[in-house]
Amino acid sequence: MAINVLLLGGGGREHALAWGISRSNSLNKLFIVPGNPGTESLGENVELNTHDFDALWDFIQDKDIELTVVGPEQPLVDGIADFLTSRNHAVFGPRKQAAMLEGSKEFAKDFMDRHGIPTAAYKVFDQSEFNEAEEYIRSSGKYPVVLKADGLAGGKGVLIPETEQQAIDALQELNDGDLSNAASRLVIEEFMEGEEASVFAICDGDTYQVIGNAQDHKRIGEGDTGLNTGGMGAYSPAPVVTPELLECVEKDIIKPTIDGMKEEGYPYQGILYVGLMITEEGPKVVEYNCRFGDPECQVIIPSMKSDLLDTILACTKGRLSKTAIEFDQKYRCTVVMVSGGYPQKYEKEKEITGLDKLEGNTFFHAGTKREGQKILTNGGRVLNIIGEGESLQQAIDQAYDRVGKINFEKAYYRRDIGAKGLKHFS
Ligand code: AMP
Ligand code: GLY
Repeated sequence: MAINVLLLGGGGREHALAWGISRSNSLNKLFIVPGNPGTESLGENVELNTHDFDALWDFIQDKDIELTVVGPEQPLVDGIADFLTSRNHAVFGPRKQAAMLEGSKEFAKDFMDRHGIPTAAYKVFDQSEFNEAEEYIRSSGKYPVVLKADGLAGGKGVLIPETEQQAIDALQELNDGDLSNAASRLVIEEFMEGEEASVFAICDGDTYQVIGNAQDHKRIGEGDTGLNTGGMGAYSPAPVVTPELLECVEKDIIKPTIDGMKEEGYPYQGILYVGLMITEEGPKVVEYNCRFGDPECQVIIPSMKSDLLDTILACTKGRLSKTAIEFDQKYRCTVVMVSGGYPQKYEKEKEITGLDKLEGNTFFHAGTKREGQKILTNGGRVLNIIGEGESLQQAIDQAYDRVGKINFEKAYYRRDIGAKGLKHFS
């Protein structure tokens, strides 16, 4: 019997998830809180607050919703899965303790330490231990060094100073600045040299299946320069993730993570995002995330040939081991078009033109809003434009060809998305 589903979130990731779920024969009706103009035609956008669990629960009962899929990390870290599971409602996404893999860097590092999972050497300090942290940095004398706020910081909680003075200033900033809440505890870790990639696994608490890998582009500027952003583009699969490397990542990282969480009493159900540094000594964990990457999701979901909703339901019922998931063999690239000024100050409400020149499924909305017949910018990351092909070069070319059809005032995008991947073929 087809079911009603609730999807939480309103970014490009959620547009891609809504698109995937809406193609399922097992779906009766999809509701998206809050959704965006891209999800309007795939279900019903609902103006509720994803932080108001009681209101969400009332809505779920009112609409006979049988499954909730959680896009972003904050509701998971705040315990939405525990809240709804205790009311016998099926949720796709980890419970609060399992989401701590993302919600607390200290928890994640200690967990990896307990289970022998390769990651950078580290030490944790309390905010009151500023002097000890400073002493630790001075005595180790190795730069760059990596300073991380323990809690969620919207991607802004990591500082990588290159000199002793910069490191002391960074420490001060984490202590007193806007981040001081997230940084009530602080992880100081060794800088890892290498290429970054992410691997995504879908998990039912007991078993997992790898559903893809990708490379994000976090910096605002070409050549990976400038400020960190939520992600300026991604491509999949990443050639740096060879079959041999993936085997090693599964054996040394993903399997021990899933087994370890189960062993410690926090079975991991949902998407496990493993951010990796491919070092000379092999792959090491940079970070875990407890949900899909944004924009990585936008290049992985379209590659799934299997029914996304059925796969998600298999996870919530603990039946993933009996479920085969199929993918196509194409490369995909997404270029994120952002409002000029992002990730700092930018203007909104610029009219976007050219969307009518693109077919459906070739782009996903993020920070947009509808005003009558017009679509306006409404955030930093505005649109994800997708290209696909038999080769990475084709995927990149198609994405940029489509980007060229879209206009809005002060639009900005990186022109080198995927270039890192192409190097592996030359
Ligand atoms: P995180 O939020 O932990 O993913 O960190 C954000 C970014 O900082 C990562 O994507 C890396 O580019 C960089 N980073 C974090 N930890 C390290 C590390 N130990 N060594 C080198 N780069 C790092
Ligand atoms: N694109 C990085 C993230 O979703 O965390």
